[in-house]
Amino acid sequence: MAHPLEELRDSALREIGNARNEQSLDAARVRYLGRSGSISAWGEQMKTLGKDEKPAVGKLLNEVRNSVTAAIEERAQKFRAQKESGALANIDISLPGTPRERGSLHPLTQMLDRSIEIFRRMGFALAGGPDIEDEWHCFDALNTPPEHPARNEQDTFYLPDGRLLRTHTSTVQIRAMQAASPPMRVIAPGACYRRDEIDATHSAQFHQIEGLYVDENVSVADLKGALEFFIRELFGPETAVRFLPDHFPFTEPSLQIHVRSRALKRGEQWIEVAGCGMVHPAVFEAVNQARGDDAYDPEKWTGYAFGLGMDRLAMILFDIPDIRLFAQNDLRFLKQFA
Ligand code: PHE
Repeated sequence: MAHPLEELRDSALREIGNARNEQSLDAARVRYLGRSGSISAWGEQMKTLGKDEKPAVGKLLNEVRNSVTAAIEERAQKFRAQKESGALANIDISLPGTPRERGSLHPLTQMLDRSIEIFRRMGFALAGGPDIEDEWHCFDALNTPPEHPARNEQDTFYLPDGRLLRTHTSTVQIRAMQAASPPMRVIAPGACYRRDEIDATHSAQFHQIEGLYVDENVSVADLKGALEFFIRELFGPETAVRFLPDHFPFTEPSLQIHVRSRALKRGEQWIEVAGCGMVHPAVFEAVNQARGDDAYDPEKWTGYAFGLGMDRLAMILFDIPDIRLFAQNDLRFLKQFA
């Protein structure tokens, strides 16, 4: 005949096996294993048993408790798994997902990043200034008198209050020298604006990297060395570079830089990429006057400055035929630089 504990176990296992959900399983657990459950009650009853009976019944009680506990855990596990697969069943994995487009840097941004990285290796620090400028920073301080054609309303965007959109990044030469004493070695990347007739090579907004190096005994040789190094880093070591005389009010002498390389798609053509020159003493004087000191004494300090056309460089490097493409936001164009 089966021991009453064995009968208890069998009915517990039957009930657990029949439980249809977590609630009825939990009810069974309380009924058999709970503090006043029937298996627990047997533990109390043990105390009343005689010495000879105790070990065997104790052993049986343990086995019964273990097998009932294991059965409950197994059944609970099954309910949990069912719940999870039930949730998954509502997801239609045959439905196409929402593709996430990966963005990429604009070709001009890539060009600026590459250029800045080269100049940083040469020891240039980054400087900056506002796109909306005053006439003094854009023209007067740069030795450009009121009658100069660049100041014409046909060439420059003026705001009603007399300020303007800077026509070059040379404004930052002045701002940097106002802010710090020499020696100075900075570059200033940024946008510029001119009232140009818009075509494949002219845009109302374009980008430059300005450079300024002021120290004792800076010469045209330093200027040529730095810019030749920059251009060969960018376009490759076989790139030819030439300097032609030019005129800017704020440099003397003034030069323009042309590049030519067989590696470039434009072949044997010389292409102008920058204006540059030795800082005009009148620029140092204007800065001194604004500072109220003699920090940029033209007898002591010399310097070179340059303005590199970033759009032009990017058009050469990436073989882009039309400057307007930079601003049209056409993904067919932009995706080619991803
Ligand atoms: N600011 C000049 C331009 O925009 C370029 C330049 C910069 C020339 C610095 C000389 C020195 O054309």
